[in-house]
Amino acid sequence: MMNPLLREIASRENLPTPAYFYDLSLLGKTVEAIKNSAADPRFKVHYALKANTDPVILKILSNAGFGADTVSGGEIRIALENGFIPSRIVYAGVGKSDAEIDYALVVEIGCFNVESLEELEVIAERAKRKGKKAPVALRVNPEIDAHTHHFITTGLAENKFGIPMSLLDEAVAYASGNDSLDLRGLHFHIGSQVTIAEPFVLLSQRINELQKKYEAMGVKFATINVGGGLGIDYEDPDLNPIPDFKSYFEAFAENLDIRSGQEIHFELGRSVVAQCGSLLTKCLFVKKGVEKRFVITDAGFTDLIRPAFYGAYHKIENLTSTSNESELYDVVGPICESSDVFGEKVSLPVTHRGDILALRSAGAYGAVMAMQYNGRALPSAIYSE
Ligand code: LLP
Repeated sequence: MMNPLLREIASRENLPTPAYFYDLSLLGKTVEAIKNSAADPRFKVHYALKANTDPVILKILSNAGFGADTVSGGEIRIALENGFIPSRIVYAGVGKSDAEIDYALVVEIGCFNVESLEELEVIAERAKRKGKKAPVALRVNPEIDAHTHHFITTGLAENKFGIPMSLLDEAVAYASGNDSLDLRGLHFHIGSQVTIAEPFVLLSQRINELQKKYEAMGVKFATINVGGGLGIDYEDPDLNPIPDFKSYFEAFAENLDIRSGQEIHFELGRSVVAQCGSLLTKCLFVKKGVEKRFVITDAGFTDLIRPAFYGAYHKIENLTSTSNESELYDVVGPICESSDVFGEKVSLPVTHRGDILALRSAGAYGAVMAMQYNGRALPSAIYSE
């Protein structure tokens, strides 16, 4: 069964393609589901801007009362321009420039998620110059396998993110002993597109151990930030349009020992916006090869890079074909690179030039990762109510 809303949009005349289509009604329902599942007043959800910075979407999410998780000065500026409150902005990233640190201090963000001792020293120095006390959380590398794609796993022992547990004592001592730093808490992120609860349970247990250890040393944390990572159903977006937020938040509610007065911060990106977005593209040619048949679309990896970059799967549908028969096609873009493939041996109803196809579940890490290689324009955006 084809998604009726997408069918209707695809039948519009003069549809601009390639274009991201966002179902704002689904986004609204997703936001409600998050709010209902994270109703515990100690739980604070920060939307990870890296997933999608479309201003229409950002305004809906800031209006919903979410904070913002950012990774650059640019994202902090975009968050502020779209209604997020400075004190509810957190800022992570392994390579914060001096200018970015200064900007974050001036606009008084809620917390720097600090990824190294070296960075801690620079933030302390920049804050001192400005006569300010920088709020910081230490990003700990919790050494947990999130069982996700190796490109997007971040919580294992040695990688560029976070402070290894073996160096954490030193970072805690430095941050709690420096007058220009306000050590607010610990920050974690185990990886992205995590579809089972177990890694979040393991993370909670790891956090419990660390809290106990530092409390014994007289260090208390006002915030625990567990990062993001909840996955979505790429295989069947119409069956599971809203991720299982209930089980996700329960994994923490049931396993984290939350201290009195403590806030638990979440940084959800993909699970908030992925399913409301589809990349709509027009079939330019159906090209007969020797053994294959290619559907050549007007969208390429410049519009949606996830298949080429991570081998990621996006469900492909022909929204306009009326054929009852299907064929196997390789769906490819127009970019001059052989990796510009959206799917191989995709079963589609018989497809013709001019048909409109949807690449589903593209609301997260789609438009934000678009580029202008080959002199391409950036994809446009259209919205439903
Ligand atoms: N917090 C931190 C510190 C992160 O590094 C990330 C994602 C998030 C939160 C949000 O994670 P989410 O809830 O979206 O899983 N471009 C890749 C994903 C990169 C994720 C990077 N970090 C993709 O297209 O799959």
